[in-house]
Amino acid sequence: MGSGIAQVAAAAGARVILHDREEQFVQRGIDAIAANLERGVAKGRLTEEQRGKILSHVTPSTAMKDWDVDIAIEAATENVDVKRELFRRMDDETPPEAVLASNTSSISITVLGAETSRPEKVIGVHFMNPVPVMKLVEIIRGLATSQATFDFTKTLAEKLDKTPVEVRDFPGFISNRVLMPMINEAITALYEGVASVEAIDTVMKLGMNHPMGPLQLADFIGLDTCLAIMDVLYEGFGDSKYRPCPLLKQYVAAGWFGRKTGRGFYTY
Ligand code: CAA
Repeated sequence: MGSGIAQVAAAAGARVILHDREEQFVQRGIDAIAANLERGVAKGRLTEEQRGKILSHVTPSTAMKDWDVDIAIEAATENVDVKRELFRRMDDETPPEAVLASNTSSISITVLGAETSRPEKVIGVHFMNPVPVMKLVEIIRGLATSQATFDFTKTLAEKLDKTPVEVRDFPGFISNRVLMPMINEAITALYEGVASVEAIDTVMKLGMNHPMGPLQLADFIGLDTCLAIMDVLYEGFGDSKYRPCPLLKQYVAAGWFGRKTGRGFYTY
């Protein structure tokens, strides 16, 4: 999702540093942006000149050091320890007035803020996948997030042509508190043999007008991410209604993460 966020920010005129641990991951992000922009040119939405300009606004990086930025947006894996470590480094390597944001889909912003010397400047900006297409950004206030940080982030989301929605910092926020139990229930129905993968997805696509069925969407999001979010809901609320389905756990244990590994509920 980091490359999608970088793309929409660059398209809005911002100068962006696209950072990852390894060069191959950064390059994958740059390639994804280039391919998306190319599609935009082919469809007549962008000129060649605009494509080149947007790409030139994105600087690849594998070293987080002395960044002169207004905001840093973390979009790492849904692992609280990884994110904590990143927030400590972002706190060290950005100007004290910079906002530190997380694209987390369920982890507490309050917890991430507590890792830094500026919890009032820490906020959640939860984009949806695919970032260039989806209009929503959930903006999550941690317990210590200031009004100025909220206002800055909301304005930024609007500049990126997104619709910001304010949400308080409780597990899964709104998007995944509502979406993930639906996906988990679809997996449970499959586990219990109530219907096939195709049947479950067809019911939800044609019956509820969802663009993707829940199992196709789970593969699209990543089954590892779905399980991580269910774990956050289950632990965060301590309520058995959020228990991850054993079949979801088994698929993740097998390394069947969905689209990104070539196999999930479907094969790719
Ligand atoms: N990146 C950029 N653009 C993309 C894209 C991608 N990965 N995938 C599709 N698009 C664009 C296409 O170029 C196309 O644009 P135009 O109409 O302007 O030509 C448009 O999206 C529609 O694409 P397609 O015609 O190829 O396919 P589609 O009509 O089936 O739509 C979809 C694809 C937009 C992904 C649609 O299936 C959809 O909305 N699915 C649901 C997505 C969703 O629920 N996302 C939220 C996931 S949850 C999340 O992200 C957060 C979390 O915390 C887990």
